[in-house]
Amino acid sequence: MKITFNKPLVTGVEAEHIKKVVEKGQFSGNGEYSKKCNKILEQKTGCIKAIMTSSCTDSLEMCALLSGLKPGDEVIMPSFTFVTTASAFELRGANIVWCDIRPDTKNIDENLIESLITEKTKAVVVVHYAGVACEMDRISDICNRHNLILIEDAAQAIDASYKGKPLGSFGDLAAFSFHETKNIQCGEGGALLVNDPDMVERAEFIRDKGTNRTHFNKGIVDKYTWVELGSSFLMSELQAAFLCPQLEKSLEVNQNRLKSWNRYYELLSEFIPAEKLPVIPDQCSHNAHMFYMMADSFEERSELIKFLGDNGIYSIFHYIPLHKAPYWKGKYDGLTLENTEKISKTLLRLPMFYELKDEEIVYVCSKIREFFLGRGK
Ligand SMILES: Cc1ncc(COP(=O)(O)O)c(C=O)c1O
Repeated sequence: MKITFNKPLVTGVEAEHIKKVVEKGQFSGNGEYSKKCNKILEQKTGCIKAIMTSSCTDSLEMCALLSGLKPGDEVIMPSFTFVTTASAFELRGANIVWCDIRPDTKNIDENLIESLITEKTKAVVVVHYAGVACEMDRISDICNRHNLILIEDAAQAIDASYKGKPLGSFGDLAAFSFHETKNIQCGEGGALLVNDPDMVERAEFIRDKGTNRTHFNKGIVDKYTWVELGSSFLMSELQAAFLCPQLEKSLEVNQNRLKSWNRYYELLSEFIPAEKLPVIPDQCSHNAHMFYMMADSFEERSELIKFLGDNGIYSIFHYIPLHKAPYWKGKYDGLTLENTEKISKTLLRLPMFYELKDEEIVYVCSKIREFFLGRGK
């Protein structure tokens, strides 16, 4: 049996919607389909304004611009994340302050944030790893008390929630990804969610290359001009047309993934202890973005990846800690983030996609069992 790691979602109706765009002849951003996607996200999350972008990276760069960061301002975030969670802020000259993660959820450790705050701190960026919420009550409280901008990197977290409230609705700003590796996708795509009413108008200016085009479209000005530092962050109508039917179907897609996630958990928990399997706190409802397990060591994980690969199963590790990345050339040499570094060496992600078959999950789990039996475990 051959089992790939991810199969990008295609619902079957995307081509019809793209055909409509071709027939209408309007392809650039903020058209009918983009506005429909915006509306679906606003209804899903209750955010004040959703803005489709060409990637989550774009959305994060917009967050950094909207936050008005200046060189030397500090931004606290986890190091166990994707490169652009940090590069979006590095582009503005901010200093990144790395925070370690919790061993259970692999999310930023809320108990460590306060000790990292200085008078230069301007923002906290949280990442909801695997679509499982960070401890948002505590983190929101810290940001409120210290007057910090809260940004959610919700790249993996569509339709997930914390205490019944959708992720993406806690921060002043939040970013979703619709890259082909995500639960719903349009190749490359993203969205910025704005929950602070004072940032809505500027967010649209920033998306529109820094111009007040939205004012021009509404007839407020008779020509549009440069009013903010922005860029071209728009999603094209072709991508929005592809994404729209997936957004409409996302709850069903996630239910199907959750069924697979629960099946993995059921089968693996027969021989793997709970602390080596994902932890979903009671207050979190997740979207089965990912199923991962922890190996005992880097060597064990490498051997397991090889063993699964030899048996036709594609499994992969995840983030290399950003504070150790070659980009920083020794800047963070003295910094140790114990959980981040250990988890980065031992976390293994298993195949997960819409309509993963039960027999495929059974096969993956049986091979993992065989691997551990072979090692006398
Ligand atoms: C946590 C996180 N942030 C940001 C991104 C970037 O998303 P995009 O590829 O849509 O720019 C990703 C993508 O995998 C991610 O996992």
